[in-house]
Amino acid sequence: MSRRRQIYEGKAKILYEGPEPGTIIQYFKDDATAFNAQKKGTINGKGVINNRISEYVFTRLSHIGIPTHFIKRLNMREQLVRQVEIVPIEVVVRNVAAGSISKRLGIAEGEPLPHTLIEYYFKNDELGDPLIAEEHIACFGWASNEEMQDISAMAIRINDFMCGMFAAIGIRLVDFKLEFGRLWDGDYSRIILADEISPDGCRLWDMITGEKLDKDRFRRDLGGEEEAYQEVARRLGLLDTDNGPSEVLDLNAHRKLRGK
Ligand SMILES: Nc1ncnc2c1ncn2[C@@H]1O[C@H](COP(=O)(O)OP(=O)(O)OP(=O)(O)O)[C@@H](O)[C@H]1O
Ligand SMILES: [Mg+2]
Repeated sequence: MSRRRQIYEGKAKILYEGPEPGTIIQYFKDDATAFNAQKKGTINGKGVINNRISEYVFTRLSHIGIPTHFIKRLNMREQLVRQVEIVPIEVVVRNVAAGSISKRLGIAEGEPLPHTLIEYYFKNDELGDPLIAEEHIACFGWASNEEMQDISAMAIRINDFMCGMFAAIGIRLVDFKLEFGRLWDGDYSRIILADEISPDGCRLWDMITGEKLDKDRFRRDLGGEEEAYQEVARRLGLLDTDNGPSEVLDLNAHRKLRGK
């Protein structure tokens, strides 16, 4: 690992140069941040679980025809992906009001939205990732109209698929964040799904108890974040495999979370 060239260290992941041109390795850390990195901490085992959950979700999305950067998982904390030029927009898909939309517009958390909302935020830590309109994206050339059509269509398909996938395991998909990138082929580029999909960037509520199974446990000091991430992985069937992360994960996590 030490001989590989590090390209970037972010809040949750480190990027290394991949074995072939056009590939990179994503290393998933246990570091957790919230409120634009004003709050910092660690969630033990988070990197291992997010690597596994993201592999699973990206693989399932590729099966329904969503192009993604994912190539293969290399080990417990690393995956090989296609390097892209990240579109500097965070795409947030919301089904139920929570977090910033509740605060900004005074809508009670947990209120189902009349229809699915897609929001765009400018990816810029110094500015605190501000909410933007499609007009800003066009005006400043952050993405073309064609690219935005691909991005919004993919976001809706991903949401439909993930709502069903999580509903099947008793989880309500409240909202989530996506990042897309440009994959260049000569003079042409196409948009593919990049980054990660994990409880770091999704709001996942137990359908019956309403219990939060995502990073809000860390943001709001609710405790039990390790167990919550493990519970999501367990329900997706990702903990009981021979070469999965089961050996480092506590299989009884879901019982602890419920205080049994
Ligand atoms: N396939 C890819 N090719 C190139 N960069 C990628 C790819 N997938 C994700 N990235 C970028 O790699 C970084 C991942 O690191 P991490 O998630 O820790 O970043 P971060 O601290 O959240 O920072 P950022 O605000 O840039 O997202 C992000 O900047 C993300 O946009
Ligand atoms: Mg990130």
